[in-house]
Amino acid sequence: FPSEKIRNFSIIAHIDHGKSTLADRLMELTGTIKKGHGQPQYLDKLQVERERGITVKAQTATMFYENKVEDQEASGYLLNLIDTPGHVDFSYEVSRSLSACQGALLVVDAAQGVQAQTVANFYLAFEANLTIVPVINKIDQPTADPERVKAQLKSMFDLNTDDVLLVSAKTGLGLEHVLPAVIERIPPPPGISDSPLRMLLFDSFFNEYKGVICYVSVVDGMLSKGDKVSFAASGQSYEVLDVGIMHPELTSTGVLLTGQVGYIVTGMRTTKEARIGDTIYRTKTTVEPLPGFKPVRHMVFSGVYPADGSDFEALSHAIEKLTCNDASVSVAKETSTALGMGFRCGFLGLLHMDVFHQRLEQEYGTQVISTIPTVPYTFEYSDGSKLQVQNPAALPSNPKYRVTASWEPTVIATIILPSEYVGAVINLCSDRRGYASFDYEDAEYQASDLVKLDILLNGQAVDALATIVHKQKAYRVGKELVEKLKNYIERQMFEVMIQAAIGSKIIARDTISAMRKNVLAKCYGGDITRKKKLLEKQKEGKKRMKRVGSVDIPHEAFQQILKVS
Ligand code: GTP
Repeated sequence: FPSEKIRNFSIIAHIDHGKSTLADRLMELTGTIKKGHGQPQYLDKLQVERERGITVKAQTATMFYENKVEDQEASGYLLNLIDTPGHVDFSYEVSRSLSACQGALLVVDAAQGVQAQTVANFYLAFEANLTIVPVINKIDQPTADPERVKAQLKSMFDLNTDDVLLVSAKTGLGLEHVLPAVIERIPPPPGISDSPLRMLLFDSFFNEYKGVICYVSVVDGMLSKGDKVSFAASGQSYEVLDVGIMHPELTSTGVLLTGQVGYIVTGMRTTKEARIGDTIYRTKTTVEPLPGFKPVRHMVFSGVYPADGSDFEALSHAIEKLTCNDASVSVAKETSTALGMGFRCGFLGLLHMDVFHQRLEQEYGTQVISTIPTVPYTFEYSDGSKLQVQNPAALPSNPKYRVTASWEPTVIATIILPSEYVGAVINLCSDRRGYASFDYEDAEYQASDLVKLDILLNGQAVDALATIVHKQKAYRVGKELVEKLKNYIERQMFEVMIQAAIGSKIIARDTISAMRKNVLAKCYGGDITRKKKLLEKQKEGKKRMKRVGSVDIPHEAFQQILKVS
């Protein structure tokens, strides 16, 4: 395929507007997957994606298509479709995928119209200089109002109303116009075929058998199996052991030509060597590296610990594998006195964090305890020093120098909603359950009055329960945390004192009185089976406990506590 017969495009949309369904239909239309293959949202491979009905990880599929224009011979095209996630937490995946494309189908729900992520994704595509093909989907719905949505697309993005395609990915209505529009309107990839090889590494994942699989877009030149390639940022060189396309399963082709999107296998064992955004070139040639990507900014940090202390190695292995498939998580080892050895992970947002935990459990069978998520804060002390904090436990409770200032990150939020709801917007924002859709971008750090809130059990601070809060909220949060913990910690053989403290000042306290009876009190020594059963039961209960000093804390307490504040 010469590059003028190649089109690389993406589908971008707000969450649930039908990207994955449309991708399925296009793959069926081109015979890439069989019709009625019984697995809707084909590219949503992860269990978490199927359960939540959302796309988390961008996927890619190569399709072959015979385009027939009136009176002319049909002509074969190679189309690379890159499916992208819709949720705001995963914009990073979107911008990465777009860098391998020249155009994008902007899918908008015919009833809901333009939503926050439609706007955000439109601008990502626009800034990447992509040709936009507007598609209004779900026109089969009774509440569909394509004319209103067309007008929105015109007024918000200056898109020509005549260019808008009207489709139903569900019934198939209008779908025959989509691929011809892709071919006609989206330019072929601009690379130079007789220039030295230059490829962009835009994604990677780990395969048990093949090792690291790198998704690449060939910008210039061509690549064959057996070639020696070097990675510009990592400085490593490898032999290409396998090369091919995603059709949509990995399919060896032996070569990749200018403008193609495909995969390479090099025998790399860890994705640390595969830096997303890196330029790959033929060893011993000199090329100008490609611009690459903006570094990820982590908005939320949380500790991830094995639920059973002895499982650290298994967790470590699982996290390494999973970060191979999700390069947007940052991982650093940390130790907690309460929870033992674990990791501090940085995420793009709370949904991203949730999905990461779920994948750890579902794909790697590890049970984890996660600590209260926190945003990164900055503190300044009277000696002029500054401390960046991603873990509340790392902030000294009684510092040597006085805290003179503290800062927290903020975002610029865009909320798009029908005008009649404007009056209620404040409430919608505060409970996050409203009709409005939400988008945000990073803004600067702002000065804010922050304090560390410690939780003490019988006088001992539990590092995993420490939080950083606004001073004016500290008393309320402290009181709520103490109350919650009281409900979660069962009575022990001795009295348990629960305190919340800011530095050495106790701001809330409560006690759990000692247990009087023990579990065996009722078995007068005679019935040994019953005694055993009771002891077993008690042991089972203990398994899900974490012992802090002499106090047993149930695992769920660590998770439930974060619902306060
Ligand atoms: P994310 O991947 O989470 O961003 O969602 P998505 O945009 O890929 O949406 P998806 O394809 O998962 O579709 C969301 C829902 O809309 C599913 O229940 C689909 O069955 C439904 N849907 C998709 N296209 C149509 C359509 O043309 N008509 C109707 N009525 N429903 C549709």
